[in-house]
Amino acid sequence: MFTDRVLSGMRPTGSLHLGHYHGVLKNWVELQYKFDCLFFVADWHALTTHYDTPEIIEQSVWDMILDWLAAGVDPTQATFFIQSRVPAHAELHALLSMITPLSWLERIPSYRDQQKKLAGKDLGTYGFLGYPLLQSSDILIYRANLVPVGEDQTAHIEFTREIARRFNHIYGKEAGFKKKVELAIKKLGAKKSKIYERLRNCYQEQGSLEALVEAKALLDEQQNLSTKDLERLFGYLEGGGKATLCEPEAIFTEVSKMPGLDGQKMSKSYDNIIRLREDPDSVRVKIRTMQTDPARIRRSDPGDPAKCPVWQFHLVYSDEKIQDWVQQGCRSANIGCLECKQPVIEAVLVEQRSMHERARPYEDDPTLVRDIIADGCEKANKLAQETMQEVREVMGLNYS
Ligand code: TRP
Ligand code: SF4
Repeated sequence: MFTDRVLSGMRPTGSLHLGHYHGVLKNWVELQYKFDCLFFVADWHALTTHYDTPEIIEQSVWDMILDWLAAGVDPTQATFFIQSRVPAHAELHALLSMITPLSWLERIPSYRDQQKKLAGKDLGTYGFLGYPLLQSSDILIYRANLVPVGEDQTAHIEFTREIARRFNHIYGKEAGFKKKVELAIKKLGAKKSKIYERLRNCYQEQGSLEALVEAKALLDEQQNLSTKDLERLFGYLEGGGKATLCEPEAIFTEVSKMPGLDGQKMSKSYDNIIRLREDPDSVRVKIRTMQTDPARIRRSDPGDPAKCPVWQFHLVYSDEKIQDWVQQGCRSANIGCLECKQPVIEAVLVEQRSMHERARPYEDDPTLVRDIIADGCEKANKLAQETMQEVREVMGLNYS
């Protein structure tokens, strides 16, 4: 249970594009081989901002999952599921809302930022204010300790850690905790229980972080203790009570910045995207008609790649040799813009060819995707229920 688990979600609000591929999905593909990964469709999150256009959800959900598969996210490696089909996320959200100070939600930067950005929409809703807590529930319900997010979401992870800490603090003091801890320590065996007690004292009395790390490693190795006992021992080690919820960490990865066709961030609302499974002819047309350095009016005018969105594509797709060729050729007007775009077109098409291939069986037989999701939801529900049992218990809801 204390193995690394990764959780990440994506909102179904429209077609996925190359920005999602280079910014998120490529990373998921790498993570799925290293960790136990859960990837989910955040359909409730989509409703926090798109509550008045529910029709986009169904359209987007299945397309988005197809895009994940096209990108190489592999359902035999990772678990795929849909948030609204694991209703326990909502239960945990409701329970956590009891202990969430309003001020914590109000001070999250995305709250005001997004309201400003989406000024045309009334986001003065309860759901929108609470959406970071819904995200916390998504994470905490699986005891995921690693969450890959963009920089804009760091505050949400920090908030999630604070909620987990507050929860553990308030509900960590089960009846007879000390007794139960003593019993659990006995179960470690004579030798290991001595080591555990010594390391705990060393941490509690001298603040030795090495001792803490060592003691955690010792607990991580335990095979024959129940989850509950382990939680007690982890909690006791750090001076608290039982740690029901686990504080997650954000993971950031170097991702290439994928600009849109006009050099701004790639985004559907700017109408500057190349879809993940876009038709090859359409890709050719879009890149051929991309803006270039406005100074190159005639073929003989020299240009500056720094002022050209095509160069941004070369940074993502071309090797050093081609990049040198672009720099030289553009500045000296030795190459034309169409010529310069050709290697980019080729590279995008090659990248997309394998995506089309991976997606084809699923496009031909949509029941395959339905089955993947059904399996994933079943697994997710099971994991979620394990946490909820304990949450209900410590919150006094397990009465008959
Ligand atoms: N909030 C994220 C977004 O808007 C999506 C998301 C929802 C998420 N729950 C999550 C991401 C849990 C990581 C972990 O893009
Ligand atoms: Fe842009 Fe290439 Fe044309 Fe230079 S030659 S302006 S880098 S498209």
